[in-house]
Amino acid sequence: LAAFGLVLPGLPATAQTELPADDSLREAALDLFAPIPQQMDQIPRPDGDPTPITAEKIELGRSLFFDPRMSVSGLISCQTCHNVGIGGVDGLPTSVGHGWQKGPRNAPTMLNAIFNIAQFWDGRAPDLAEQAKGPVQAGVEMSNTPDHLVATLKSMDGYVEMFSAAYPGENDPINFDNFADAIEQFEATLVTPNSAFDRFLEGDNDAMTELEKRGLQAFMDTGCVACHAGVNMGGQDYYAFGVVARPGAEVLPEGDKGRFTVTDTVDDEYVFRAAPLRNIALTAPYFHSGQVWDLREAVQIMSSSQIGTELEEGQVEEIVAFLRTLTGDQPQIVHPILPVRGDDTPLPAP
Ligand code: HEM
Ligand code: HEM
Repeated sequence: LAAFGLVLPGLPATAQTELPADDSLREAALDLFAPIPQQMDQIPRPDGDPTPITAEKIELGRSLFFDPRMSVSGLISCQTCHNVGIGGVDGLPTSVGHGWQKGPRNAPTMLNAIFNIAQFWDGRAPDLAEQAKGPVQAGVEMSNTPDHLVATLKSMDGYVEMFSAAYPGENDPINFDNFADAIEQFEATLVTPNSAFDRFLEGDNDAMTELEKRGLQAFMDTGCVACHAGVNMGGQDYYAFGVVARPGAEVLPEGDKGRFTVTDTVDDEYVFRAAPLRNIALTAPYFHSGQVWDLREAVQIMSSSQIGTELEEGQVEEIVAFLRTLTGDQPQIVHPILPVRGDDTPLPAP
């Protein structure tokens, strides 16, 4: 068309975000974000001393995470919905649990969840230990009770040994609190360092392409960073989903009022935790409703609902390219060989 001297009206030039020098870009980014640490030796506690992590607790927690006998059906483990092979999610819009029931929300990843200020889309569990007590008892998830769970664990010699080794000196180490504690210890180790973005933050200019760097700049310029910052690029605070304009009911179902259910405050209607964006390329579908499969579309929804500008196509392209640099090394987890059932181990129940 240009050859004929025609300019099409209404077609925006795909604006490119201006790119500063690598050092300035890195400096600006380090003010807002931090790399994922290589390894976790302790569990940070916002209100107190960190908790040490021990090898025995990690080993026990890993077994509990993978053990389907923690569900009343003997079929569903944490791994069912938080599959370590696919980014810590189940890849479904909303999870399917006990008796093939569909839950109301999308399963977020437990990878790097240790860096979130609180757990769940609405932040209703203060930490990973408190969180772990939820799914075991939830009717639509594992449908168990603490008593039945403890009886199951006590009936297997392998677990008696592992709990004694993990909680030495306790005279009744197999209890619901220690179950949750051990899972928290295991989950705290599930971090994903060395993403391209982290390598750039750590000084490697070649870790990101020019397009990805423009995306990082656009992510900061357009205001995403107001809610998605810190080591997890989110997970730190709560915001209305639809600060500017509420997305449609297919993405934001009316029945799920988010943090309102936790705080009972009208201001918290449709308020959710800003989702952490680490490994976001692995964890479709998106949003608590799990209705959006395309990361490009998720970014467009965010731009209209949260920052109130229609991003230009070029900027969306850049930001999506940047978001794809947030995939880190996935934890290499050896599937544990689980304790053998004992004579008194409860049978799977419908
Ligand atoms: C949320 C771990 C079992 C589905 C979470 C979170 C963690 C977690 C850490 C919060 C992540 C975040 O907020 O960023 C576990 C553990 C389990 C377990 C340790 C085993 C004891 C399950 C099962 C299912 C499931 C079996 C599916 C049937 C979900 C869903 C959420 C969630 C839907 C979000 C719920 C909400 O926000 O209301 N899980 N999970 N989880 N998990 Fe699990
Ligand atoms: C969720 C990206 C701006 C608050 C998300 C998700 C993405 C994303 C990809 C989905 C995460 C997932 O499903 O795991 C962006 C981008 C932004 C931006 C690229 C800039 C264009 C903002 C701003 C706020 C915000 C400014 C706060 C005012 C949230 C919240 C969620 C979320 C609360 C969770 C929504 C839900 O309940 O499903 N963001 N975001 N975001 N973001 Fe943003």
